[in-house]
Amino acid sequence: MLVEFLVGLVLLVTAVHLYVKSTWSRVTENVNLSGKTVIITGANSGVGQALAIEFARRNTRVILACRSAIRGEGARQNVLAEADRDDDGEVVFRHLDLSSLESVRKFAANTLETEPRYLKIYLSCSW
Ligand SMILES: NC(=O)c1ccc[n+]([C@@H]2O[C@H](COP(=O)([O-])OP(=O)(O)OC[C@H]3O[C@@H](n4cnc5c(N)ncnc54)[C@H](OP(=O)(O)O)[C@@H]3O)[C@@H](O)[C@H]2O)c1
Repeated sequence: MLVEFLVGLVLLVTAVHLYVKSTWSRVTENVNLSGKTVIITGANSGVGQALAIEFARRNTRVILACRSAIRGEGARQNVLAEADRDDDGEVVFRHLDLSSLESVRKFAANTLETEPRYLKIYLSCSW
């Protein structure tokens, strides 16, 4: 009984280890995402800012959707510097206050009108 339990435990730990390892390798791969566009809300701090830098490093067009123009523009400069991107037209700030339906509608209409490419990724990193 104890032996069967231990064998089961070892198999479970091995399966979890293999799953985590294969998932991590996918996340850390240095894939080139040029031609793709990502919208990131809450991109001026925390998780959103870190993701914006990672996507910019992979040559994605990055739309930083933030409610403060000052923090959004500051984040844009930070992303460009951290990702070592000089094509600053591909990392853009757009105003979006998620607590206002009017702002959400404006953001959506503006994005549909001005984005030449189909959006591929949307990341919500705001409260
Ligand atoms: N950090 C973690 O380890 C972790 C783990 C799991 C899940 N999460 C989730 O990930 C999300 C972000 O976490 P975080 O740690 O990165 O938080 P954070 O640093 O506080 O960032 C929150 C972001 O949301 C923005 N935001 C808040 N209200 C907004 C609104 N009405 N319109 C537009 N943007 C708004 C903030 O903008 P302002 O600067 O203008 O306030 C800020 O950029 C949260 O939902 C959290 O629950 C975080």
